[in-house]
Parts: sequence; structure tokens; C-alpha cells
Amino acid sequence: MKFFVDTAEVDQIRELAELGMVDGVTTNPSLIMKSGRDIKEVTAEICGIVDGPVSAETVALDADGMIAEGRELTKIAPNITVKVPLTWAGLKACKVLSGEGHMVNVTLCFSANQALLAAKAGATFISPFVGRLDDINLDGMDLIADIRTVYDNYDFKTQILAASIRSANHMSQAALIGADVATAPPSVIKKMAEHPLTDKGLAAFLADWEKTGQKIL
Ligand code: E4P
Repeated sequence: MKFFVDTAEVDQIRELAELGMVDGVTTNPSLIMKSGRDIKEVTAEICGIVDGPVSAETVALDADGMIAEGRELTKIAPNITVKVPLTWAGLKACKVLSGEGHMVNVTLCFSANQALLAAKAGATFISPFVGRLDDINLDGMDLIADIRTVYDNYDFKTQILAASIRSANHMSQAALIGADVATAPPSVIKKMAEHPLTDKGLAAFLADWEKTGQKIL
């Protein structure tokens, strides 16, 4: 499973990229707002750090507006992925932009039917939002599993990008189901390294090492 980092915080992206943990980046208008930076400037900086797909989201509501914004965003760098919402207008924009050879990430997906439409419109990525479904007492991972089944049934090449990931548990579940990509905040990716038995085992080893009186360096 590829890891995308769901943030526009450049320092955090750089830290994870140095460890080889970043296959791509996703941003959205809320994350750009949180960064306090200009969308083109911060996205260009991110594209200078990460070679993989970097999603930048359009904000127009009509297809022509999304297409114009998407074309503008793709001028930032060759690895820009245009992110459009899963509306009828977004599907039209997806078809045009993907037809022009641009990568397109169709976002705000909450049903298998929506994912099916995005695949038929030529989406490179479909972003089902796991956490936001969990928030309304549905199981977001069921959606990832359903889309995996639908796409595999018909051999669609659109990649399932599990989004709105809120926990390390979501990451392992997405990987077990076979999501192609998961995008998560840096804090969640770091949490994946944690296990209480690792901490307990390490403390016991160090206590015994202390008793030997030895040093390695
Ligand atoms: C990524 O593409 C999405 O914009 C993001 O994962 C949404 O996450 P949230 O539901 O935690 O805001």
C-alpha cells in the first residue's frame, strides 16, 4: 500500500520523506487554510520534496471552472494531481482533465456507486472518506471493501485512495482490504510504529544491559 501524507505542512512532509514514508501528498482547501500559505507557493514547495502525486484541489462548482482551475494547478509541477469533488460537474471535469493526460483524484466519495462513476470517468484515484463515515456511525472500512470488490470485478485501474484516515488501526485495515493508497496525517503514520510490548521489551533489555556494566561505544 502506498502512503500519501494528508497535510500541507512542509516540515512534516520533509521529515517523513527522508524516511521513505511518502509516496505522495494530498491537500484540500482546509489543509491549505491551516498552513496559512498561498496554494501555489506551498504546493510548488511540496512538489520539490515529493516526486509522487501531489493532490491540489479545485474550488469551482461548475465543470468549466474546475477544468480551468485544474489546468492552472497542473502548471505548478508535473506531479500535480487535480482533485475534484464527486459531483456530476466533478465527473465531467475528471473526464476532460484525465483525457488531457492529467492525474485526477476524485474526492468526497461516500458510496460504491460514486466510486463506479469516477472510475468510468477516468479517475486516477478515488478518495473514499473513512473517518467521516465513522463520524456518522457508519463503518467507513466497509466502503473501502465494497469499492475494492467493484473495481476488481471489472478490472478498473482507478486506484483506491483511502482518505479521512484518523487512526493507525484505519491504516492496517485499509492495507488488509487492499486499498492501493492510504492518505493520513503525519501523526497517524508515526503512531503506526507504536506498540506497548515494544516499549516494555525495550525497557527490560536496557535494564539487563545496565547490569552487565558493558558499553558498545
Ligand atoms: C484527503 O484527501 C482528504 O481531504 C482528507 O483525508 C480528509 O480528512 P478529514 O475527514 O480528516 O478532514
